[in-house]
Amino acid sequence: MIKYRYMPIKKLCFFLFLMSAGSLIGQVTDPVISLSQVYKDYFKIGVAVSPRALKTDEAQLILSQFNSMTPENAMKMGPIHPQEELYNWAGGDSIAAFAQRNNLFLRGHTLCWHNQTPGWLFKTSTGDTVSKEVLLQRLHDHITTVVSRYKGIIYARDVVNEAISDKEDEFYRPSIWYRICGEEFIEKAFQYAHEADPNALLFYNDYNEINPVKREKIYTLVQNLKSKGIPIDGVGLQGHWSIYEPTAEVLETTMKRFSQLGVKVQITELDISVYKKEHGRRDRTPVDSLAVFSTEHETLQIERYKTCFDIFRKYKGVLTAVTFWNISDRNSWLDNFPVRGRKDYPLLFDKNLNPKKAFWPVVQFDQSEEK
Ligand code: GLA
Repeated sequence: MIKYRYMPIKKLCFFLFLMSAGSLIGQVTDPVISLSQVYKDYFKIGVAVSPRALKTDEAQLILSQFNSMTPENAMKMGPIHPQEELYNWAGGDSIAAFAQRNNLFLRGHTLCWHNQTPGWLFKTSTGDTVSKEVLLQRLHDHITTVVSRYKGIIYARDVVNEAISDKEDEFYRPSIWYRICGEEFIEKAFQYAHEADPNALLFYNDYNEINPVKREKIYTLVQNLKSKGIPIDGVGLQGHWSIYEPTAEVLETTMKRFSQLGVKVQITELDISVYKKEHGRRDRTPVDSLAVFSTEHETLQIERYKTCFDIFRKYKGVLTAVTFWNISDRNSWLDNFPVRGRKDYPLLFDKNLNPKKAFWPVVQFDQSEEK
């Protein structure tokens, strides 16, 4: 690794010139500056992966840039437990083996959610809705089996994902979990996970955490769980943001508020979309078809990434990991959400796996100011 911080300025300029020349002529440059190395005294730098990506040239980028992984889909309830008697371990196992082979931290995602959940979970054999007792028993069995399989391998887990409502006048999301079990499913999920692996760090994870109303609800939920003695170690802020938000002020307020909880904070699903944030799916319009990664998008994205990491660094200690949701602009879930087929460019590496301009202010900062 080249320690650019200690380079004489002329040499540094020449080196940066070489890096950008490499991307201009379309070569895949393996950037010698590594995010996870630069941030090793701050927090882990993670990335959401698919089993397939680990078999492509993206694997090398993961190893050079990140020290933690999250399975993007492979450990969700639907993919991993499609039928009551059937667990599909292939994807999760291959990601876990890659992490172990390469000494990467592994986050689990996610033990209980209302999306990507198998239909059988909520139905009796005659097709009726299950009772609360049966559903909690199934949740128990699912969590115990999945957590036990990766005990000692997964260091932290999203236990419950997105249980809070986006509506201002509603606290809990009226999901099928909530309709059948009430809020108790949340506590139970944490208890079951803790019983199966007492050493894994357990997180509540949610999005739109920069919204003041939702932020307070997430805060209250975690605080209530803590005060009831439920084993919860942290709050995961997904961080699906955009080049237009959050502002520095909003992000400061958000980080400050969550750091008052007295639990670990992680940014669990970071991406910075080049479009205005929309939380619901919608149809493509003629304007969407014209979308490109413009100079304006690029400039705003550089600024937003810089602002985020400038603020993240201030919270080192409380903030223990920042995980990007996908590896590079080659593939992102935002290519299909909220508008199916509209390409997005939300990450720090382009589709050729080269660092984008937004990468540089994230890794170049004055270390003396921060410590
Ligand atoms: C949520 C979930 C993630 C993922 C994203 C979209 O944030 O927590 O698992 O599904 O949506 O990829």
